Amino acid sequence: MKVKIEKPGYSDGGVLAYFLLKEDKIPAEILKITGKITDGEFDRKLGKTYTTATLGKMKFRRILLTGLGDKKDFEPDFVRRAAGTAVRHCKSIKCPDLSVVLPKLPEVSPKSTAQFITEGAILSNYKFMELKTKKEEHFDVKNVNILAPDKSADGGVAIGTVLAEAQNYTRELDEYPANLMTPRKVADIAKQLARKNKLSLTVLDEKAMRKKGMNALLGVASGSEEPPRLVILEYNKNRKNLPLYGLVGKGITFDSGGISLKPSKDMHEMKYDKSGALVVLGTAKAVAELKLPIRLIVALALTENMPSGKAQKPGDVVKAYGGKTIEVLNTDAEGRLVLADTLAYVAERNPKAIIDVATLTGAIVVALGRHAMGLFSSDEKLAALLEEAGKRSHERAWRFPMWKEYGEMMKSDIADIKNISGTGEAGSITGAVFLKEFIGGAAWAHLDIAGVDLIKNSHPYFEKGATGTGVRLLTEALIYLSKK
Ligand code: BES
Ligand code: ZN
Ligand code: ZN
Repeated sequence: MKVKIEKPGYSDGGVLAYFLLKEDKIPAEILKITGKITDGEFDRKLGKTYTTATLGKMKFRRILLTGLGDKKDFEPDFVRRAAGTAVRHCKSIKCPDLSVVLPKLPEVSPKSTAQFITEGAILSNYKFMELKTKKEEHFDVKNVNILAPDKSADGGVAIGTVLAEAQNYTRELDEYPANLMTPRKVADIAKQLARKNKLSLTVLDEKAMRKKGMNALLGVASGSEEPPRLVILEYNKNRKNLPLYGLVGKGITFDSGGISLKPSKDMHEMKYDKSGALVVLGTAKAVAELKLPIRLIVALALTENMPSGKAQKPGDVVKAYGGKTIEVLNTDAEGRLVLADTLAYVAERNPKAIIDVATLTGAIVVALGRHAMGLFSSDEKLAALLEEAGKRSHERAWRFPMWKEYGEMMKSDIADIKNISGTGEAGSITGAVFLKEFIGGAAWAHLDIAGVDLIKNSHPYFEKGATGTGVRLLTEALIYLSKK
């Protein structure tokens, strides 16, 4: 899909869409064609639509009006939703061309409006079809023109395109099942991305990890026939005058639970346990394409978590990178183990901030449902920045406390720390305070994306499946940091 800005009056003969608040008048040029439109036909409530053929009275084939609801209830994300509705309408009538009149909205600049239309259009146009042998089942919208009177909206389309395409990249990789998307395969894909975007790449295999003492990650990997990988991508590596930021992603390509085996119901969903790694990979793509003036180090902790005769066992003690000992009381709390080594490794590079992204706990889905990710941070400014970027991207992050009493819950009788508290209480927080032990003094935040990485019902701009949630939030946060 190609999104671009065109002047009002431009026509490609496809669908012409207007996004209207309840307070907006239906444009006169539309009423000329349709005659009076009653409230019963189109009340402009959020998501409501009105559509008609133009019967040759206009250069466009059809008109689509989409409601944005009352001005007082307006949220910027409604623009993405309306764009998704318009793209779906085009799909339903197999029309490849859509033009959207840039709406005037409360508290959203024309540039941001154009960005959000672009995001909604590109995200809603995407469907994972790679493993279907009949390709023609899916119709793609090819062109979206945003009709805007002046240049103020231009830059928004460019940013929106990079963000949404990076997110679709993450969605696609995340959707591949564990037999096709192994740690080695993800490492190959990272290599392709590095080549295309001139990123520096380091891939640590089992032997290299053993040498470095990354025994927490290796412990998780020990039950699997598939070898693990730790992938490190660096953007602007040699531009030492630029501020360095670190991103770390949990990349469990399949989480069976290991010896602490998960129940079989819905276990197939654990192919998505690599979402965090793919979110930071997609963010690396977006940051490189936007050429942000920062340095970035991105680390992907990749392994399966499987039971076998060689698997680690509940009660095992491992020594993580940097020397801390961990008592592994539950092999299904593996995300924090692979992140322990990886966070400690990235922290050594002294970034100004480290953010990790992980499908860490089922408990976060209990707490927040599927409408927000968990945010945990040792740094007020970083937390505020992520909250703000989450509002803008509508990838909302909700902050939890990490008081020292929660830390007490993770003390082991025989090692420095244990990987579960054993009480079953405050499961997402105890996961976060475990991670905190491995970041040294760095400003750090942890995003628990279990629940939001995957969508199970219909949504205005996502198909069912992987959402790539986090790519836009992180990139928006890094855009902000690059301007400071
Ligand atoms: N990958 C899971 C978390 C998860 C659960 C993600 C459901 C998405 C949906 C993680 O590795 C895990 O199994 N966590 C355990 C932790 C527990 C043993 C302390 C959990 O949430 O049950
Ligand atoms: Zn697990
Ligand atoms: Zn997991």
